[in-house]
Amino acid sequence: MGKIILTGDRPTGRLHLGHFVGSLSRRVQLQKSEEFDKIFIMIADAQALTDNADNPEKVRQNIIEVALDYLSCGIDPKRSTIFIQSQVAELCELAFYYMNLVTVQRLQRNPTVKAEIKLRDFAEEAIEGDTTQKKGIPVGFFTYPISQAADITAFKATTVPVGEDQEPMIEQTREIVHKFNTTYGEVLVVPEIMLPDNSACMRLPGTDGKAKMSKSLGNCIYLSDSEKDVKQKVMSMYTDPDHLRIEDPGKVEGNAVFTYLDAFCRDEHFEKYLPDYKNLDEMKAHYRRGGLGDVKCKKLLIAILNEMLAPIRERRAYWENNIEEVYRILEEGSLEARRTAAQTLNEVRGAMRINYFEDRELISEQAARYKAANQ
Ligand code: TRP
Repeated sequence: MGKIILTGDRPTGRLHLGHFVGSLSRRVQLQKSEEFDKIFIMIADAQALTDNADNPEKVRQNIIEVALDYLSCGIDPKRSTIFIQSQVAELCELAFYYMNLVTVQRLQRNPTVKAEIKLRDFAEEAIEGDTTQKKGIPVGFFTYPISQAADITAFKATTVPVGEDQEPMIEQTREIVHKFNTTYGEVLVVPEIMLPDNSACMRLPGTDGKAKMSKSLGNCIYLSDSEKDVKQKVMSMYTDPDHLRIEDPGKVEGNAVFTYLDAFCRDEHFEKYLPDYKNLDEMKAHYRRGGLGDVKCKKLLIAILNEMLAPIRERRAYWENNIEEVYRILEEGSLEARRTAAQTLNEVRGAMRINYFEDRELISEQAARYKAANQ
């Protein structure tokens, strides 16, 4: 049997270079692979609402942003099914049944949920006696790993390409699948995580050198940024704070410009943009020795990034002029996703023996029992 991919993103903002190296470019490649029968890409609006309940408009506006980013990166709706999570009601029903297979304690141990709870302002306990304070953890947020298990299993996904922060979710999904299959019978497929393959790419730091690109830190380069934006952001990027004069020796470790070059630069780029060096190793050696200034490194990075983003910008311009068509793609994708999820849900109900009206045996047995008793 061929393999099936399911992956997705929360629509809480435009996608950035971190998404591109971590997942989007991989998805575009996977579309060409014979190994996979089907690719589902989900815009996880319902999951985004688990910690944005008071801001549905933000989620609503960002669905189109994420869809535009997908299409401009080269995700091809003919080969991948792009859909909106909330439009597949079957996912909620699956999640509701899975909730019986997971303990509160197990959810509390999920490292990603733990970390996210710390990050958000509902971290603190409710302030005693003050009912106007909205502190506390929403149940929907707390249980989103279960809903994510529904997302994955509804499509019988074998393969989930995600970043390493999603590992606990996939682990939890696997546990739910095992529990379901041993309790009710073999219906669900145990998914495998597919991590990004290039370690330099696994986590692109922010332009400020902080561990991760993140909207809230304002350290992102967006796929929809203009040439000018990219230039400005790279020019103000974090490098080596001790590399003050050009002659000073510099550090490339922890230097965001070099981390980005590791992720994006190929030998051909030197021939084209900076023929002083044959490759990145030579350039790094010069930087370490001293005598190579940050501006020169940054200019190379700007050229490389803008070359990479040019076709993405071009496709984005096309789709921005065809928004109705983008929504048609999402609608058709959601219908197809719904058909697939409904099929799995049917099997789930059958295995759990809650398909009462189709269960002729149940009805005739009870009818016979009552008939005999009342004779
Ligand atoms: N949790 C994922 C994220 O924050 C998004 C997501 C929701 C997802 N459901 C999924 C990813 C299912 C993979 C599979 O990025």
